[in-house]
Amino acid sequence: MKTIIEPFRIKTVEPICMTTAEERAVILKEAHYNLFALSAEDVLIDLLTDSGTGAMSSEQWAAAMRGDESYAGSASWERFEASVKTVFGFGYVIPTHQGRAAERILFACLCQPGDVVPNNTHFDTTRANIEYRGAEAVDLVIPEGKQPEAIHPFKGNMDTGALKALIKEKGAENIPLIMLTITNNSMGGQPVSMANIREVASIARKHDIPLYFDACRFAENAYFIKLREEGYAGKSVREIALEMFSHADGCTMSAKKDGLANIGGFLCTNDELLAQQEKNLLILTEGFPTYGGLAGRDLDAIAVGLEEVLHEDYLEYRLASTRYLGEHITREGVPIVQPPGGHAIYIDARAMLPHIPPAQYPGQALACELYLEAGIRSVEIGSVMFGKTDPETGEEIPAEMELVRLAIPRRVYTQSHVDYVVEAIIAVFERRNDIRGMRITQQAPYLRHFTARFERA
Ligand code: F0G
Repeated sequence: MKTIIEPFRIKTVEPICMTTAEERAVILKEAHYNLFALSAEDVLIDLLTDSGTGAMSSEQWAAAMRGDESYAGSASWERFEASVKTVFGFGYVIPTHQGRAAERILFACLCQPGDVVPNNTHFDTTRANIEYRGAEAVDLVIPEGKQPEAIHPFKGNMDTGALKALIKEKGAENIPLIMLTITNNSMGGQPVSMANIREVASIARKHDIPLYFDACRFAENAYFIKLREEGYAGKSVREIALEMFSHADGCTMSAKKDGLANIGGFLCTNDELLAQQEKNLLILTEGFPTYGGLAGRDLDAIAVGLEEVLHEDYLEYRLASTRYLGEHITREGVPIVQPPGGHAIYIDARAMLPHIPPAQYPGQALACELYLEAGIRSVEIGSVMFGKTDPETGEEIPAEMELVRLAIPRRVYTQSHVDYVVEAIIAVFERRNDIRGMRITQQAPYLRHFTARFERA
């Protein structure tokens, strides 16, 4: 059969609140044109994030009922630890309430002020946690990774020439770790190849620098390797994932993505001494090392999720549904980051709305139009999120790209939901020349995209 179906049936349904275009115009104005300020009930299709928004399976809910809520040494912890060790292969596992808690603990242990941390592309919480330690976060994705229209099977790869040059310039002693984000979220959900992982690992080993993965979407990355990299078609995703992790010294993980859970995360390492330091910090803010800020039922749901996410019929459906959205809007001429990534489609708002300058936030304008058109919530990843102020001139330096991300929650929406999203994007695309830019009327000094207020320019 050529048709790829959702490999599940639906047992519990959650009604969507319908709204009219007139109602949405009022709601959006009241939210000051910031989609983070909307009440979720006023959203028809919520593509704000794929993080923590997935549907759990009947097996995960059953596991949640088995949750052991003992403070120390619970059976849930034992199942969680065994599952993480089996899938990831690292020696020590430290549970956290989500990914950024793992990041904070890792960088608190490894980074000193003045240090430099290279990554293919840091996610914003990763960057913020490194900068909070007084260290510098440097993005070294390959040049194709920064060109939305460029086609490359592994656009998330790290530029290894640039990595070697950075080590030479800064000195290995000032680089406490090298990171690879798999898949590369900020640059389009693009995968990293095994060849690139191997090469980065060998550079890291040569200079005695530990290599860590930001492993949020590891299963999607492993499946891309199976589909696209020579020599992997016959291997299982489980084997590929283990091979990926065998090249690393540890990882941070948000179980809200490829853990198929609504909350949770963890930190892994093979270094016993470091694990002990990390556990000491964990106790300070997250909790005892056998629960790390999670309930026993969360640990059990993650333990099952990490197994289910490796099912290849699930991964085939997952990548197919993201690709379906990307291909249908590309066919109508909508410019997107090519090729479609694992968890999201990124519309290139700069290319779609060339009449709106970056200073008038084309991505924000487009995200607002998608809401007005059909009640779809997306997120701007452009100059609202990443624009910087020039310290000398006070002028705003635009972001490298002006993107709008449509992130697909796991196992939540069906193909007709995606057809509805396609229709809405095409309708907005057809009236793109009439779309006006935005101006910021109020903003916070950092991470302004969450709370900024806008009006039409
Ligand atoms: N690393 C990556 C690559 C991520 O995408 C995220 C979260 C994190 C780390 C942090 O994990 O949210 O559990 O603390 N990404 C979400 C998103 C929020 O919408 O892309 P967290």
